[in-house]
Amino acid sequence: MPHDFMPGLAGVPAARSAVSDVDGQRGVLEYRGIRIEDLSARSTFLETASLLLFGRLPAKLELERFTSDIALHRRIKYRIIDLLKCLPEQGHPMDALQAAVAALGMFYPGRNVQDIDNNYWSAVRLIAKLPTIVAAYARLRRGDDHIPPRDDLNFCENFLYMLTDSVPQKVWSHTLDVCLILHAEHTMNASTFTGMVTGSTLADPYTVVASSIGALKGPLHGGANEAVVHMLREIGTPAQVRPYLKKKLQAKERIMGFGHRVYKVKDPRATILQGLCDRLFRECGASPLYEVALEVERVAAELLRGKGVYPNVDFYSGIIYDKMGIEVEFFTPIFAIARVAGWLAHWFEQLQENKLFRPDQIYEGEHDRPYVPIEKR
Ligand code: ACO
Repeated sequence: MPHDFMPGLAGVPAARSAVSDVDGQRGVLEYRGIRIEDLSARSTFLETASLLLFGRLPAKLELERFTSDIALHRRIKYRIIDLLKCLPEQGHPMDALQAAVAALGMFYPGRNVQDIDNNYWSAVRLIAKLPTIVAAYARLRRGDDHIPPRDDLNFCENFLYMLTDSVPQKVWSHTLDVCLILHAEHTMNASTFTGMVTGSTLADPYTVVASSIGALKGPLHGGANEAVVHMLREIGTPAQVRPYLKKKLQAKERIMGFGHRVYKVKDPRATILQGLCDRLFRECGASPLYEVALEVERVAAELLRGKGVYPNVDFYSGIIYDKMGIEVEFFTPIFAIARVAGWLAHWFEQLQENKLFRPDQIYEGEHDRPYVPIEKR
């Protein structure tokens, strides 16, 4: 059957899914039918993760059980810590996370992905342990000891505690929680698709998530949040924004944190993050990066008018993490801590009706060429 070739599979459905939906023309994002604005204002990351994984908002007892299961699985084996200690100090934390998640699977070798109970515990372990791995690598690579998780702290309090060795103020843990909700899921993006290709071979969930982490790292996907902060630092002041952007666009370069395959209006997550920035910087002091970012958005709207290119989720998230004192290289791992919920929700869904991904290609090479012996080439 002949098909049109769609570079980047743009607009080509790769699955049927009830996990989330984006209306790119209206700028609407829903997880399981619930608008992202409602979830970010009223839910928590773990409640949202449960919604994504199991299809509905959990009842009180269900949420208590899920939260407690996560809290009890935050610890990581000392061999994983040893593995992290062996990695180069200058290594990218996404590579460390990918290696550690792949290794994690070796400790929990249940290979039967049709075992629903086993799959639940794999999901719990992955959501619970990713923050511990990220925080451990952040500390170990600068020569500090790994800080074990504390069961009395909630998900985000505990992550920031393991990272900084102090229990954060509510404003920081709450802000991070909202960021995690906003990053938890986003339909058929590159990292989700990557995980689904791996999942379609019936590989174990640790391998699925390790694959997705690899795809998320790239600067055209999750890695853009790092690039945004580098760009804002390079620009320096609001006055420098216009000449910087003009030069960049003349050179046909991309403005990082702008543009999206699906959204043709401003990404609703960027709007929510901007509101979060406004509140946070009012309460906790201004951010020079934010002042530059606002000017970038204003000038870019003028220079890119008519192209449907607006800020995406990566534009404002890094500014928040920077204000929290988190190193730039850890922004994308934080994205992964959130997105693992979405990856696993798609994996659960996929297992109900799996078909091995095996797309086609349009062959443009030659046929029937003679093999020429090496001495005659
Ligand atoms: N800066 C300047 N121009 C842009 C940008 C940008 N960030 N994004 C798109 N455009 C322009 C393109 O130059 C193109 O213009 P043209 O028609 O005159 O050639 C037009 O908009 C369409 O661009 P495409 O490349 O066809 O759009 P695509 O859907 O393939 O790209 C992508 C989406 C890859 C995200 C792109 O917008 C980009 O590179 N953005 C910067 C990186 C980034 O922020 N990535 C994070 C995305 S969100 C996420 O993954 C979590």
